[in-house]
Amino acid sequence: MSTLEEFISGIPKAELHLHLEGTFEPELMFEIAYRNRLKINFNSVEELKAAYQFSNLQEFLDIYYSGADVLREEQDFYDLTWWYLLKIHAQNVLHTELSFDPQTHCSRGIPFGKVISGIHRALIDGKEKLGISSRLILSILRHLSEESAFQILQEAVEYKDWITAIGLDSSEYGHPPSKFERIFAWALKQGFLTVAHAGEEGPPKYVWEALDLLKVSRIDHGNRSLEDSLLVEELIQREMPLTVCPLSNLKLKVVRNMAKHPLAKMLDKGMLVTVNSDDPAYFGGYLNENYLAVAEALKLTKEQIVQLAKNSFTASFLSEKEKQKMIEKVEQFCIASEP
Ligand code: ADE
Ligand code: ZN
Repeated sequence: MSTLEEFISGIPKAELHLHLEGTFEPELMFEIAYRNRLKINFNSVEELKAAYQFSNLQEFLDIYYSGADVLREEQDFYDLTWWYLLKIHAQNVLHTELSFDPQTHCSRGIPFGKVISGIHRALIDGKEKLGISSRLILSILRHLSEESAFQILQEAVEYKDWITAIGLDSSEYGHPPSKFERIFAWALKQGFLTVAHAGEEGPPKYVWEALDLLKVSRIDHGNRSLEDSLLVEELIQREMPLTVCPLSNLKLKVVRNMAKHPLAKMLDKGMLVTVNSDDPAYFGGYLNENYLAVAEALKLTKEQIVQLAKNSFTASFLSEKEKQKMIEKVEQFCIASEP
């Protein structure tokens, strides 16, 4: 009989909501700052970690964007991605769909090509050396203008083969999905899939807009969808995945305590919900820690944990055949771990 922790750690799973810049561990941040001859506003790793106390999304974003400032060279983006891949390899994550925020870097004068080449090179190594498959999502910063979004997308088109989807992240209040309706229509026409953060802090109306105006394939977070029963019906009927992030929600005070996390209700209603780490270097845990936190606080059964792992593949951008293969791996793991 395996313990809950061993079961979660061993089960094959995918991660679908992950910000690359949010995997920037303080140790790597200091290393990269040193080699780029840059100064960090903190004297030690411990001092930096101690500053990771947030009372809302915006407080976190301010620290997250300033951390990303030391990333300058192609190798920096490679190392950032590679560190993340090594972490998830140790957690039996077989597939990841990671977002990056190019506007954060290009606005500092870093060429788009440098950013994406470093990430892409690490993802290729991730497949070859670690067996981790991946998809890349280019996230638009919603606090910036439509024009800025359009500029970055025009740069991205040259690297279309490396990018699967366009996402929407950053400060949610006051920046509804409708602000980017024309951008997303353009992206869809170019052949990109779309996803969007909605209902993390923002109202259910933002989730409706993401569905109807941005034609998303997944909602990132979506917690506040539960406030609108018609919306819940719609999400179920469309089999629309929600990529929820328990430790993030706790750290950013989206939920007061983990026992109040909406994941259990979502599972009970039959919604296609998945567990993800969002910004693991800032929120105290990668994928397994997120599974464990909700499993313990919500007293999830092994069947529910298996459902979450299967959902992570079902909701991914893998082909139907690849999804099936991954789900079979989950089933084989379950059989092998039976008492
Ligand atoms: N960027 C990084 N993490 C984010 C989050 N949780 N919400 C919105 N934008 C983000
Ligand atoms: Zn996110």
